[in-house]
Amino acid sequence: MASQTLWGGRFKEPLAEIALKFSSSIEFDKLLYEEDIAGSIAHVEMLSSCKILTASEGRRIRSALRAIQKEIETGKFKLTFEYEDVHSAIEQRLTQKIGALGGKLHTARSRNDQIALDERLFLRTAIRETSKLVINLQRVLLYKAEKNFGVLMPGYTHTQRAQAIMLSHHLLAYISMLERDFERLQDCSRRLNKSPLGAAAFAGTPFPINRALVAKKLGFDGIVENSIDAVSDRDFILEFISACSLMMMHLSRCAEELVLWTTKEFSFAQISDSYTTGSSIMPQKKNPDMAELVRGKTGRVYGALMNLLTTMKGLPLAYNRDMQEDKQPMFDVVKTARESLYILAHVLVHTTFDKYHLEEELRTDFLTATDMADYLVTKGIPFREAHTITGEIVQYCVTHKMYFGNLDLGTLREFSPKFEPDIFDFILPQTSVERKQSAGSTSPQEVKKQIVHWTRVLSKRRV
Ligand code: ARG
Repeated sequence: MASQTLWGGRFKEPLAEIALKFSSSIEFDKLLYEEDIAGSIAHVEMLSSCKILTASEGRRIRSALRAIQKEIETGKFKLTFEYEDVHSAIEQRLTQKIGALGGKLHTARSRNDQIALDERLFLRTAIRETSKLVINLQRVLLYKAEKNFGVLMPGYTHTQRAQAIMLSHHLLAYISMLERDFERLQDCSRRLNKSPLGAAAFAGTPFPINRALVAKKLGFDGIVENSIDAVSDRDFILEFISACSLMMMHLSRCAEELVLWTTKEFSFAQISDSYTTGSSIMPQKKNPDMAELVRGKTGRVYGALMNLLTTMKGLPLAYNRDMQEDKQPMFDVVKTARESLYILAHVLVHTTFDKYHLEEELRTDFLTATDMADYLVTKGIPFREAHTITGEIVQYCVTHKMYFGNLDLGTLREFSPKFEPDIFDFILPQTSVERKQSAGSTSPQEVKKQIVHWTRVLSKRRV
């Protein structure tokens, strides 16, 4: 049975059932009931303080709204599709409870400013929670960087082995990336923290309301000045989704590395059984599904971004019903980003790195070839020439199935008379890493600095 609509007067016939079903958003916007009620309570308080409602009318409406919140939470009042949306459902329930007085709640308000308000309130909380999870992941990475301090590994460019680095350095890179994600979220939160309420349908209202008062009651930093802008834009949701898209791109790269590093081919790391899955057919398999899913869910978030950008791009001002489609991508991104941050932190806690295998991989490769060339430069050979000589030595080793560690001084001197016995120490991965001096480099002292920096920043961070 379709409930009454909010616009009875103008219409002779009720909305067709299939039209209601098609257009109802309650199945998803019911998630906003708390924000909706909080917004309505603040609105009613303002209406009373501006003498648009009497104090006792205000009190009765507010207590009924609180009771409705309980009814929703206990399942006594069900938000089902016979209502068009969460706003209509709550308002209709209010009228059922307190009669005609319930109809006064909507004075000087429209669902257009109401939904914009609910979404801003919802996202403000969601951003705080997402930010906490970003910090948590940063702390896990920091813990891993500290725990593995001193472990060396091959670093890559073009997915080809390039130079020896400290594993901690690599992990710290993700902390820096997440820091920018954190900043983007804070920035987005700061910009969205303005109240659209009081814009009414879009043109404002003749009632002597106080927009600033209601904004203050709801913890906003002010109002969205232009009432048309207040109900027309969803850029605050798009900013959030873009910030999450960038963040998911970072999570996805980290997940991709976990996938690679736990293969037999790499064998750099292992994820514990509790965060991996087996195969229903191949008994030997141990699959990094959690990491794969973080990588996969990144696509969902990008999809949500394109979804909402496309929904918004052709809309003339002000409110259009198309905008009701903003909620599913918003909710989905909030959930996906949170879950991904959370699981990745757990997976990392349960990942161990194989120090000895990493050492072995460094020994049986040419990751210090750049160091050998640099060595010749210190002996006065121009870098280009040193590069060629070293390239020839690598070529020689490959042909003779050798590594730098197998070369003797005599052989090296055939390539250049500049080689001295100190070359052997110079091309060890350990000394290679230690010689890096530039700020932010992979040397233990620079990596230590970063660890100290992040320990200080992350230990006192609160959101
Ligand atoms: N359910 C609607 C939405 O989310 C609420 C605003 C409806 N406004 C209207 N004029 N029909 O967009």
